Order: sequence, then structure tokens, then C-alpha cells
Amino acid sequence: MTAPLIDPFQRAISYLRVSVTDRCDFRCVYCMAEDMTFLPKRDLLTLEELDRLCSQFVALGVEKLRITGGEPLVRRDIMTFFRAMGRHLDSGQLKELTLTTNGSQLHRFADDLYACGVRRVNISLDTIDADKFAQITRWGRLENVLRGIDAAQKAGLRVKINAVALKGVNEDELLPITQWCAARDMDLTWIEVMPMGDLGNEDRLDQYWALSDLRKAYGAHYTLTELSERTGGPARYVRLEETGQKIGFITPLSHNFCESCNRVRLTCTGQLYMCLGQEDMADLRAPLRASAENAELEDAIRRAITLKPKGHDFDYSRQEVGGQMSRHMSHTGG
Ligand code: GTP
Ligand code: 5AD
Ligand code: SF4
Repeated sequence: MTAPLIDPFQRAISYLRVSVTDRCDFRCVYCMAEDMTFLPKRDLLTLEELDRLCSQFVALGVEKLRITGGEPLVRRDIMTFFRAMGRHLDSGQLKELTLTTNGSQLHRFADDLYACGVRRVNISLDTIDADKFAQITRWGRLENVLRGIDAAQKAGLRVKINAVALKGVNEDELLPITQWCAARDMDLTWIEVMPMGDLGNEDRLDQYWALSDLRKAYGAHYTLTELSERTGGPARYVRLEETGQKIGFITPLSHNFCESCNRVRLTCTGQLYMCLGQEDMADLRAPLRASAENAELEDAIRRAITLKPKGHDFDYSRQEVGGQMSRHMSHTGG
């Protein structure tokens, strides 16, 4: 029996998020610049290499694998990779294989994803207003995402909507989005906007809509009950008593949840980031390519986990942006 991955703060690492591409067919304003330069294709790990790496993590005790990007479904032949990871579900070593997507390509892949063993998808959607959607995503079309959601539900996938709370942008949609999710039996989680990417600092602070304010806004319309249940993710949940709906809040800024962090992030070039909000990372591509045996790779992974920091430094509390990361969210996949 191999020893599990435990970090210096006694947190067991059981969740790997894998960004399979840094590319995306959208250009969300809080995530990317319009004229992003992407990695040259030759720098990417092949799907076979990603398979070997992820399988090594599974062998070391990772039970949950989330595929992200950029937009994971724009990577060529990505279903081959999902199918390959599905074998770890069959063996029982992996408990969940899932993805976070912008939904634009989901209508093409929903059935295949289900066939690979995926049962839940998280879809990033900040507005249900077509014009606003076009403004936020710059290149996206809401109707494609709606088609993707329909296809996902029809295929039997459970859908969670992730909405970044943006002051002055989707503030007025709190209730419409909530009711829309309830009508379609979809879970909903709100995320505080994090200071990532190289846009001007002021932008993020201007956009920041603290989730405590958002809860207050809910409170004006519903009776909220705090729920103690945890899914292993950072979200805290409340129930809206009038509808029975469960709403999640991910609050890296107003409430840091790092003490229970169980995850690390792998990029499409084989760098392992120990935290979304810190620069600590380790290169796994070199040990991966150095030998067809996995001993060196396992060693590198174990060493990397010893570098996991206590938490991120994101901070808006002094009315300025602290802990800003120049890295884009698309690099490490959220
Ligand atoms: P569930 O399995 O549905 O609980 O998923 P999850 O919350 O782990 O994943 P999801 O992709 O839905 O995460 C939503 C967003 O929350 C991410 O894209 C990030 O923006 C944010 N997030 C997730 N994990 C972390 C974390 O460890 N630190 C910070 N600061 N933000 C995180
Ligand atoms: N702050 C918070 N969430 C972000 N995302 C992208 N950029 C940011 C940011 N700066 C979200 C996307 C998606 C997930 C992958 O990360 O909306 O839900
Ligand atoms: Fe693409 Fe997601 Fe970034 Fe939007 S947030 S540009 S959909 S990677």
C-alpha cells in the first residue's frame, strides 16, 4: 500500500484539477485579455502523457479528477482522454471524474461524457441575458451554452452553474438566475471575483461584489438556513426555505477556506501548482519524460506536495488589491 499524499499542514490531497489546454473559445473579461497569446502546441503534454501523470496521482490516492482549461472541450480528441480516465472509475480507485466547462461545446459531447462515467458537470455562466453574455465573454453566444445545458441534462448529467458575482454586471440578476436554476433543477454557486490576470488592479476591485452582500440580498426575499454539509469543495451552502433550493458560495476573499484545501492543479505543460493563489509550482514534465518507470515521477510529486503553502494571499480588505496573481485563471483552470 503506498502512503497517501499529505501536505505540511496535514491536509490529505485527494483532488486533482487538470487544465488540459490554456485555449478557450471565449474571452471572459475577468479571465483573459482579448488578444491572449497561447502556449505553442509543442509545449503541451500529449494525451498519453496526461494519462500517465493523472494515473500516477490516482495510484497515490487521488479520488476526484476535474478536467478544466481554458475550455477543456476545445482540446482535440479530448474524449480519448476522458475514456482513458474512465478506466479508473471502473477499477474503483477514482470516485469522481468531472469537468468545468463554459458549455459552448457541450451539445457535441454530453452523451460521450456520460458514457465515460461523468455524472456531473460545472458550467460557468454569469448571466442569462444574451447581450450581457456577449459583453462578458466577448466571443461567446448564450444560445450555444443553453443548447449545451439541454444536451447535458438530456444525457443524464447533473448540472451545477458557477456564476462569478460581478458588481454592476449581474447584480440585478440574482433572483432571475436563481429562479432559472430552480426551474431547471440545477445547482447554483456564486464565486467572488479573484485578482488574477494582468488587467489593471482597479478593475477587480470595482467588480468585487462581496458574497456577504449577496446573501443579504437573498435575505430580503427568502429565509436562509445555513447548511453544514460539505462536498469536499470550497463552497458553503445555504438553503432558501421557500423553494428548498441549495445555493453555494465560494468566498476566497471574504472568507478564506484554505484550511480544508484538498486539491492541487496540473497545467497542460505538466506544472503542478500547489495553490490557485500562489506561485509555488513544480515541473513534472521533466521527470515524466526522463524515464518510462514511474519512480522518479512519484518522487517529484511527493516533493511537490511538501511545497503546498498554507493558503492564498488574495485580499481586498485595505481597499486595494492584495495578493494579485499575474497568472491567468485559464492557466491553472480555476
Ligand atoms: P464541486 O465538486 O462542485 O464542489 O467543485 P469545485 O468547487 O471544487 O469546483 P469548481 O470548478 O466548481 O470550482 C469553482 C471555482 O471555485 C473555481 O473555478 C475557482 O474559481 C474557485 N475555487 C475552487 N477551488 C478553489 C481553491 O482552492 N482556492 C480558491 N481561491 N478558489 C477556488
Ligand atoms: N475570479 C473568479 N472566478 C474566475 N473564473 C475565471 N476567472 C476568475 C476570476 N478572476 C472562473 C470562471 C469559471 C472558473 C473556471 O473560474 O468563471 O467558473
Ligand atoms: Fe474561457 Fe473560462 Fe476564461 Fe471564460 S473564464 S475565458 S470561458 S477559460
